[in-house]
Amino acid sequence: MIEIVNLYKSFNGQQVLCGVNLVVPKGKITVIIGPSGCGKSVLLRHIIGLLKPDRGKVLVDGINPADLNRAQLNEFRRKFGMLFQSAALFDSLSVFDNVAFPLRENKGIKDEARIKKIVNEKLELVGLLDAAHKMPDELSGGMKKRVGLARALVLEPQILLYDEPVTGLDPIMSVTIDKLIISMQKILPVTSVVISHDIESTFRIADLIAMLYEGKIVECAQPEDFRNSKKPVVIEFLKMARGNREKGEYL
Ligand SMILES: Nc1ncnc2c1ncn2[C@@H]1O[C@H](COP(=O)(O)OP(=O)(O)OP(=O)(O)O)[C@@H](O)[C@H]1O
Ligand SMILES: [Mg+2]
Repeated sequence: MIEIVNLYKSFNGQQVLCGVNLVVPKGKITVIIGPSGCGKSVLLRHIIGLLKPDRGKVLVDGINPADLNRAQLNEFRRKFGMLFQSAALFDSLSVFDNVAFPLRENKGIKDEARIKKIVNEKLELVGLLDAAHKMPDELSGGMKKRVGLARALVLEPQILLYDEPVTGLDPIMSVTIDKLIISMQKILPVTSVVISHDIESTFRIADLIAMLYEGKIVECAQPEDFRNSKKPVVIEFLKMARGNREKGEYL
């Protein structure tokens, strides 16, 4: 579904990605892990065509977003639902209107009864039907993420990109969000790419785990094989991630 081929990207002389290769299979959950600042969000931004590679390419269903003009790129982005690292809600809009936003703005739907039906369906999916009238500053961190997820789902995308869906959440809320990600996968025929810092969550949801380190994918394997990886950087990362978890740092 998504193929990343020899991707390079630097900012002002700082080399962030240096030869990333990754194949994301259709209909599965692929989790990308790696230390803070290693370029995970930058990689995600290339997939959706928000950044252009210096070298190499991204292919989504055979389409390279870097080849598209603005109109084509807008069309291309309709394939995606994206949950940003900070839920990125519009503060001045209610939960309902946040979720309705893509329907009104991107699809130009005017029929309010239809909008209400679709929005309520998605809010129910994330368990927030009762909070439809609330404003973002009245929500907890976990609720905001769930609103972000409902909004990402509202156009029924083929691909869902999640940038750190559980970071900063307590363990119980993390499990709730994980269950949602897995259930999305069961309800809808989507392909998911999840960026995560949380190793427990990663093992709960992943069909495939890819680790980004020093600008490259250093390991990409199914969870059991990943857990048993012999690569020193992977062993070290897993040990550190578990240590943080035990100290109660939900990074
Ligand atoms: N638009 C940009 N301009 C300049 N530098 C950038 C830009 N975007 C990202 N970077 C740099 O690229 C590096 C990787 O950033 P990125 O946000 O991808 O990290 P990350 O792996 O997502 O980290 P975290 O886990 O903390 O979210 C950082 O050093 C960051 O400062
Ligand atoms: Mg990031």
